[in-house]
Amino acid sequence: MRQARRDWFRSAVVYQVYPRSFADSNGDGIGDIPGIIGKLDYLKRLGVDVVWLSPVYRSPHDDNGYDISDYQDIDPVFGSLADLNELIAGLHQRGMKLIMDLVVNHTSDEHPWFAESRASKDSPKRDWYWWRPARPGCQPGVPGAEPNNWGSFFSGPAWQYDEATGEYFLHLFSKKQPDLNWENAEVRAAVYSMMNWWLDRGVDGFRMDVINFISKDPSLPDGPVRGGGLYGDGAASFISGPRIHEYLHEMHEQVFSGRDGALLTVGEMPGVTVEDAALFTDPERAEVDMVFQFEHVGLDHDGSKWKPKRLRLTDLKASLGRWQDGLAERGWNSLYWGNHDQPRVVSRFGDDGAYRETSAKMLAGILHLHRGTPYIYQGEELGMTNMAFASIAEHRDIEVLNHYREATETLNEAPAVVLAAIAPLNRDNARTPVQWVAGPDGGFTTGTPWIAVNPNAAEINAEEQAGQDDSVLNFYRRLIALRHGMPIVAQGDFTMLLPDDESVYAFTRTYEGTELLVLGNFTPREQTVDIGDPLWAGAERILGNYPDAHGLDLRAWEFTALIRSTN
Ligand code: NOJ
Repeated sequence: MRQARRDWFRSAVVYQVYPRSFADSNGDGIGDIPGIIGKLDYLKRLGVDVVWLSPVYRSPHDDNGYDISDYQDIDPVFGSLADLNELIAGLHQRGMKLIMDLVVNHTSDEHPWFAESRASKDSPKRDWYWWRPARPGCQPGVPGAEPNNWGSFFSGPAWQYDEATGEYFLHLFSKKQPDLNWENAEVRAAVYSMMNWWLDRGVDGFRMDVINFISKDPSLPDGPVRGGGLYGDGAASFISGPRIHEYLHEMHEQVFSGRDGALLTVGEMPGVTVEDAALFTDPERAEVDMVFQFEHVGLDHDGSKWKPKRLRLTDLKASLGRWQDGLAERGWNSLYWGNHDQPRVVSRFGDDGAYRETSAKMLAGILHLHRGTPYIYQGEELGMTNMAFASIAEHRDIEVLNHYREATETLNEAPAVVLAAIAPLNRDNARTPVQWVAGPDGGFTTGTPWIAVNPNAAEINAEEQAGQDDSVLNFYRRLIALRHGMPIVAQGDFTMLLPDDESVYAFTRTYEGTELLVLGNFTPREQTVDIGDPLWAGAERILGNYPDAHGLDLRAWEFTALIRSTN
């Protein structure tokens, strides 16, 4: 029983809802919880097991809800606690679970904890955040006087000077997102108590925002300055820092252990290594069930996401293959192409023009047949694409807006050059509203959407795809059903093939006398595939993105999954 409970998520598929852009029920242009409730039957029909809900807590929305001012209330823009209860009940009635976003590396600067911390140097909550004086010998408040040289992920320094007490506070993200000091046991206890409150209300687990940043080297040393950058990189002092395993184990003890029911925890962990991930996700160590790692979404740019480069398929295979191997014996992988921070995968690794549907299906098939728990980001199941933003005025995301300002104003780069550089990978690509119908604003809202709806909603929308047997949407349904129905998909061993091939992604899965061969053509050119075993050509196809089977030769962006018995 214990083992089965632990393992349930191997055959599960998770769907991410980014509430602001999912469905608007009241015409204010912003998606909300009643809007999600209205789509529960859609999610049920898709077949997903779990919904991960991005933050809906009270927030000033400096970073679209990842800046939380009250962990135990719902922001009025999204609805109320009563709405959330209804959402939980509606999901549970349909046999689905809800995991909430847990954002506890930082709070909003408008959280009462921070207001109290900031009030005076001897506030009982002063030590709940990272306060430091100016660098020795520097005048507080002038540029360069920050306690260390770290840059923030959202441009500028990672420190904000606070006049009231003449000290700086640390913010790895925006200056409205001060970092909590997890060294302080009261902070940890307050977080665990809040998590227990949510689980007691019926939520089924958490996706944990940048959770491998919570333990910092308290000496906060300067970091290296790379490639003409303005600031130092503090990553070595906070990525999987000194006490991270201790904290996550403590959290597990204080929150999850002893609870009945099949819960799910997934830690978002930028910069995590596969070796560390094996520790984080080893069930014996009782930390988290799985992590989101970032290696494979870092292969198409040079260090910074604003310096895009072409993906080499061999790099993608080497990376994902290493993660498959590294977590084969101990631990478990999460599988994703997209989320609210990544561009749309069909535009990124596929072809969002002539082969949009074919390549979207191929990418889905390749991902979902790996070993691990797949995550679908809203709209991915429709093959939604990146958005061609015409000017910076159309953007909404703090990350891209801050970068644009720094690049054009501080570094004097030409606006057109900056706009071209940000186009492929900026986060607003994923945040345009879900396209439900061909009508005005894709049926997302009856008001003015907070960010423009992609004009291709007329051709790419859920209503049309629901009615077409060979749509991207129905392809995702079939893939999810395969994971539910075939132990080889959920449990089978993984072996990467053709590591040196720049065009074809190929692997096998094996399980109790059965073998699955999965092939994907990452190009519009026909490929002859030789995996050294011609007998495969006659095997049964269980899923493909062309109407007819074609053996081992692949047409443009073709995906095929073949099965055979090894007995
Ligand atoms: C990761 C989240 O996914 C992202 O959207 C957010 O901006 C940062 N963490 C800060 O919370």
